[in-house]
Amino acid sequence: MVTTGPSGVASATPHIAITDLRKGFRGRDGGWVPVLDGLTLDARDGELVSILGPSGSGKSTLLNIVAGLDKADGGTLAVEGRPLGAEDHPVAYMPQKDMLFPWRSVLENVTMPLELQGVAKRAARARATELLPQFGLESFADAYPFTLSGGMRQRAALLRTVIQDRSILLLDEPFGALDSLTRSAMQEFLLSIWSRFRRTILFITHDIREAVYLSDRVFVLSPRPARVALEVEIDLPRPRTLDVTVTPEFAQYEATLLRALAHQAAPA
Ligand SMILES: Nc1ncnc2c1ncn2[C@@H]1O[C@H](COP(=O)(O)OP(=O)(O)OP(=O)(O)O)[C@@H](O)[C@H]1O
Ligand SMILES: [Mg+2]
Repeated sequence: MVTTGPSGVASATPHIAITDLRKGFRGRDGGWVPVLDGLTLDARDGELVSILGPSGSGKSTLLNIVAGLDKADGGTLAVEGRPLGAEDHPVAYMPQKDMLFPWRSVLENVTMPLELQGVAKRAARARATELLPQFGLESFADAYPFTLSGGMRQRAALLRTVIQDRSILLLDEPFGALDSLTRSAMQEFLLSIWSRFRRTILFITHDIREAVYLSDRVFVLSPRPARVALEVEIDLPRPRTLDVTVTPEFAQYEATLLRALAHQAAPA
């Protein structure tokens, strides 16, 4: 097991390099609330990187910045060694409160980002129809979100993210609201999608077990203002099956991350 401090310089150019990122917001009392305080982390090409951190530490804020929806106050964000410009974010984002549009069918929800990218409606529908079976949704193209189970809705939201054909996926607690059985099935599903499409993934979760099971590396954030408190390389063989979760190595990773999180005091 390799555990190190906050990420150092990677040997090869990382796919995503976040360096000394700073961000604050104006609080309700008019004061300045620092949220990210010199955050440094990276993700290699095709790597699945999880971010664990106390509630309110700034995880969604971080993803919003990487997605280009918000601007950092300082620091740098580079993809493949190039600093990101304003319209230049090669990412597909599944936000924490991702909602399928209730008045659109599954197919219409999934094609929407392609249509926003300027893809012709017909081509977008063809692409979505081709991918629906891989997401177990082929019989639900015309179904409306309220008729789907929680797992199906998350698969539809994930497909809407994957279909954008971006090299980076940002997933903010995608399985947070699911029961443990569905969640476990979705973890398997994500691993199969990831090995098929080989995107670089930044994955936010509160679930230590999920982070260990899915990830190549896990970053633990401090409470707000967030810095990287710990970086852990998860050196477990792939492909992973549930058998790995009962190994002593797995338990040790869980214990290391739990200790690191427990050391983080609750945010003010
Ligand atoms: N637009 C905003 N204006 C003011 N404050 C904000 C804004 N967005 C986030 N914050 C504050 O920044 C802090 C971090 O919020 P963020 O949503 O990034 O936390 P988080 O780590 O994702 O939390 P959780 O685990 O609960 O999802 C919080 O204190 C939040 O109130
Ligand atoms: Mg959040």
